[in-house]
Amino acid sequence: MQAIGSAPGKIILLGEHFVVRGVPAISLSINLRAWAEVKLVDVNPNNGVSVVLSDLFGETYKCVNGGWGTPYCRVLDTLGVMRGVEAKIFSRIPPEAGLGSSTATSLALAGAACVLCKGSLDIELVMKASLEADRIFHGKPSGVDTMTSLLGGFILFRSIKNVEKIGEGAPDLRIIVVDTGIPKKTSKAVMKVLSLYERRKHIMDRVYEAAKALVEDAVNAIKHRDYVTLGELMLLNQGLLNTIGVSFPEAENIIATAMNTGALGAKITGAGLGGSVIVLAEGNKINNIVSSIKEKHRIRNYYVVSPDPQGLVVKTEKDSKRRLA
Ligand code: MEV
Repeated sequence: MQAIGSAPGKIILLGEHFVVRGVPAISLSINLRAWAEVKLVDVNPNNGVSVVLSDLFGETYKCVNGGWGTPYCRVLDTLGVMRGVEAKIFSRIPPEAGLGSSTATSLALAGAACVLCKGSLDIELVMKASLEADRIFHGKPSGVDTMTSLLGGFILFRSIKNVEKIGEGAPDLRIIVVDTGIPKKTSKAVMKVLSLYERRKHIMDRVYEAAKALVEDAVNAIKHRDYVTLGELMLLNQGLLNTIGVSFPEAENIIATAMNTGALGAKITGAGLGGSVIVLAEGNKINNIVSSIKEKHRIRNYYVVSPDPQGLVVKTEKDSKRRLA
């Protein structure tokens, strides 16, 4: 018996970091996905201990001691299947780029293992397992990564219990993701911002207010497919991210190049201090923007992505047999 789970990567359009202290954020699942193939094994070479093979890091993880060493084993521990499972993880989402690769892989694994071992997709349990995995990366995940990858589409995230889908996707929307190659530093960035908040609460409250107002305006812009306004709001949001100290020089330079070549807006996405820049652009400007970024900056890679309306999907052998029949 086996099940395959797949989940999309994500970008945060507006509101990262501010969301950790309860400000809403807008995120979007993208058409780069991760997969987990999960099998039940009676006897395996590891004395029955569950194992997870990851093509992402070329590693094999053996699940012992509550799985605290690795997010994937935390997922299996939360599902209560630390024995008898063999899983393989594949991903097209670049790691360490702020595109939600670890959350998408954990979620794909949680979904497939849940269907296989519990007989159905228990969404609450899958969410819990993915959040447990995120906690290994930084102690205080807001849940925006998990909910975006789980549900797919445009997400207005207020809290784990208050998530609204504000659109399935937008076929006419393209976003350039520029992977700077500088690994993002989620835990360090989150702690840095929280500590700044504690030290400068009276100033930071005003910055958080501005972040909230940006998100409110962006909801309308997205609903009306007004990408000019959305671009302007993304750039304003970048200003706030710079203010709270999570932008980085390479990102600022790439953003300047993109804006000088006709982008509608650009900003870092996710935790920052490394990771990716996202650029919102009209279709006819994309080639120009990409060429000038490649010419002027040393980057690891770039992707032109569109929204993926589908969140977590799990298929079992039964499903494929049904399709063949
Ligand atoms: C990370 O993708 C987004 C942050 O806001 C952290 C979080 O919300 O958990 C930086």
